[in-house]
Amino acid sequence: MSNSEKHEQSQSKATESAIHCDFSKEMSYGDYLQLDKVLSSQQRLSGHHDEMLFIIIHQASELWMKLILHELEAARLLIQQNNLEPAFKMLARVSRIQQQLIQSWDVLSTLTPAEYMEFRNSLGRSSGFQSFQNRLIEFMLGGKQTKLLTVYEHQPELHQQLSQSLHEPSLYDAAIMALSLRGLEVDKQYLKRDWSQEYKENASVKAAWLTVYQDVERYWDLYELAEKLVDIDSRQQQWRFNHMVTVERIIGFKPGTGGSAGVEYLKHVVAQRYFPELWSLRTDL
Ligand code: HEM
Repeated sequence: MSNSEKHEQSQSKATESAIHCDFSKEMSYGDYLQLDKVLSSQQRLSGHHDEMLFIIIHQASELWMKLILHELEAARLLIQQNNLEPAFKMLARVSRIQQQLIQSWDVLSTLTPAEYMEFRNSLGRSSGFQSFQNRLIEFMLGGKQTKLLTVYEHQPELHQQLSQSLHEPSLYDAAIMALSLRGLEVDKQYLKRDWSQEYKENASVKAAWLTVYQDVERYWDLYELAEKLVDIDSRQQQWRFNHMVTVERIIGFKPGTGGSAGVEYLKHVVAQRYFPELWSLRTDL
């Protein structure tokens, strides 16, 4: 027997002896991940081949959104406690997840208009517009719109959760409080306001961020926080832009299943940004 054959034989024996096969009394991979639930949730209503891609891309996106929310909630708490360093790692993770979500449009663009039209009727009035987690992320970042709650009136638990998020300070509100804790002057009404109201750009907040950007050595942690927020804002916008382009590629200018004007509506929301002063200050530097 050659040396390489001997090596292969010993490798395969080592693998066999390490493999555990009896899971009658132990938790297996599938048990731990509850794959029975996850993998039995892809029901193609039309039976069309390409509907599988459509379902999985939405479900995978919702799973990533769940992780984004998990990270953002923890990061907001840390920022509120003025413990910025550990929050940075979470915010960096959010940006990487967003990158995954942006990449997913590439997969979806393999769906042609003709293929989509084969099963579009099966969706009824359902649309990403009703994505609860997407609204929670928007609220968490500071994009508050009370009227969006009406979509969940028939689901009291979701409605309650979203309403709670509406009334809490956003991640950006927490960052503004961190500026104030470091002695930077911010108008009082921006430290204690009705959090459910849409955020409006403010001169004192902009001046405080400008101070940070003009003296990065002194305010390094706040500077890092600001840049992490800009990463998130810019990726959110890239996601929306790629969604809009992919949708135009698939449905042209047809109205959406959710009842909007379709691409015209999506073009309008592409402009949305959550941290206005962090963008406008760049012109003044
Ligand atoms: C063939 C694929 C898709 C088409 C044709 C499509 C189309 C649309 C349209 C037309 C809207 C506007 C609302 C409406 O009238 O329905 C919308 C909203 C939305 N879609 Fe999609 N979409 C697609 C895939 C996805 C995927 C994979 C996701 C990932 C979760 C997604 C998430 C969203 C979200 C979150 C909104 C709300 C945007 C906002 O209001 O700011 N969509 N989509």
